Amino acid sequence: MKVTFSSDSISQIKADNVVIFVPEFEKPADARLNQLDQASRGVLTRMAEAGEFTGAEGQVAVVSAPDGYEAARVICVGLGEKKKVDADTYRRAAGTVSRFKGLTRYTTAAFHFGDVDDAAVYQAVIEGYLLGSFKLLDYKSGDDGVSDVSLKDLVFAVENRRLLKRLEKAIEIGRVIAEGQLLVRTLALTPGNFLTPQKMARKSQDLAKKTDGLTCTVLDEKEIAREKMGALISVGQGSANPPRFVVLKYEGGRAKQKPVVLVGKGVTFDSGGISLKQSLGMQEMKGDMTGSAVVLASLITAARLKLPLNVVGLMPMAENMPSSKATRPGDIVTSRKGLTIEVINTDAEGRLILADALDYANEFDPQAVIDVATLTGGALYVLGYSGAPIMGNNPTLMDRLRSAAEATAERVWEMPIWDDFRDLMKSDIADLKNSGGKPAPTMTAGAFLENFTGDWPWAHVDIAYVDIEPSGRPYLPKGVTGIGLRLFVSVLQNWRKR
Ligand code: BES
Ligand code: MN
Ligand code: ZN
Repeated sequence: MKVTFSSDSISQIKADNVVIFVPEFEKPADARLNQLDQASRGVLTRMAEAGEFTGAEGQVAVVSAPDGYEAARVICVGLGEKKKVDADTYRRAAGTVSRFKGLTRYTTAAFHFGDVDDAAVYQAVIEGYLLGSFKLLDYKSGDDGVSDVSLKDLVFAVENRRLLKRLEKAIEIGRVIAEGQLLVRTLALTPGNFLTPQKMARKSQDLAKKTDGLTCTVLDEKEIAREKMGALISVGQGSANPPRFVVLKYEGGRAKQKPVVLVGKGVTFDSGGISLKQSLGMQEMKGDMTGSAVVLASLITAARLKLPLNVVGLMPMAENMPSSKATRPGDIVTSRKGLTIEVINTDAEGRLILADALDYANEFDPQAVIDVATLTGGALYVLGYSGAPIMGNNPTLMDRLRSAAEATAERVWEMPIWDDFRDLMKSDIADLKNSGGKPAPTMTAGAFLENFTGDWPWAHVDIAYVDIEPSGRPYLPKGVTGIGLRLFVSVLQNWRKR
């Protein structure tokens, strides 16, 4: 996708298609719409009267061959109620454009923004367009493997030339962020046979090599044993594909500045282990490494954006399988920290691998640690597909996540870690157990993780179910979302502002 700029007026733009974003209206009153209405002998007025196009969100109208326009068509995309329009409205509208069938025969489109000068809008439009057109074709063959997204050139028409530099930068940032989120989606969709812990570790090394400023080291099963990561080992031991522990480092800050550490759950396939899951829907558990993909893509994105801070990414990777070597319910394992854990349910494996990774974070003397994981099925009953439950121990860090959620439209909501939940995670026979049973499962998981945090601000983000879009939204096609990436990058972008 090539992006260029133009300062032509709307009628001068030479492209197959000009796209304009239109807030809801009764009559085509604003100057740009009025002009288009006249150039098309009242098409917009008639469509508005017929209720065919009123600028309502999701509506698209094509005005063909308006008089005096260089472009063959103007595509009007509704934004909905004017006072509710924000950057995400534009992100959604651009997503609608990316999936508009009327564009599939063309290779160029120009977005004309009128007098909009908010850089966040321009960033959102490129994000929405790229995110909306995502489709993984790697596993299709022949003609099925050919993308039906035909646009190759996007033109951003900005009439006020003085804005150009700033907007150009915003669009480049948007493109890099969208590419990060698409990487998360691609990895999340990659089947377990193509993405074992070893393969994910190798992939991380390859990507780090290609990214300036990013380094990657991998601990193999022997080094994991040397680190005494007994909880991680217990999750991976049932599988023929041994565990890996990936460490990513991005040093964009001063040499002595403490890093922000991001930790991501990397279960490349979660069968449940001996506590085997039911078959229905089990294939979705190839996506149980999405937390680690968010961490990997966040570090890549931070490096590409040259953010001025130090970031460490930790990705404990394991495959949770049943076998004669697998951990049994009732087994007791010793975590890296030394705390003993009674494994009540081998399907509560995410918290086990995160426990060892959170403890390993101490090695980096972090200024804060945020973990991200498809951790609990119960998250569906907390915020559904609409937002990620977060927990933690530090109000400032929670505020950072809330502001980032506001800025990116990747919603989070804080849930409590109460003593009741902590009590549920105590074992009669070991220090802790890995399942607290039915009550408040998302929060008892947070209470479990808290035992492995150090003397630093910590937050936990449960992305189970927000990693999936069940029916398809404008820039979130049905399937995996890659949510968490924009949230994390925004947290990092604004780190020094507090
Ligand atoms: N990876 C799952 C959580 C999950 C389930 C994510 C469905 C997305 C969709 C996790 O490892 C798990 O199995 N959690 C159990 C924990 C329970 C056994 C304490 C759960 O939530 O049921
Ligand atoms: Mn599980
Ligand atoms: Zn899992």
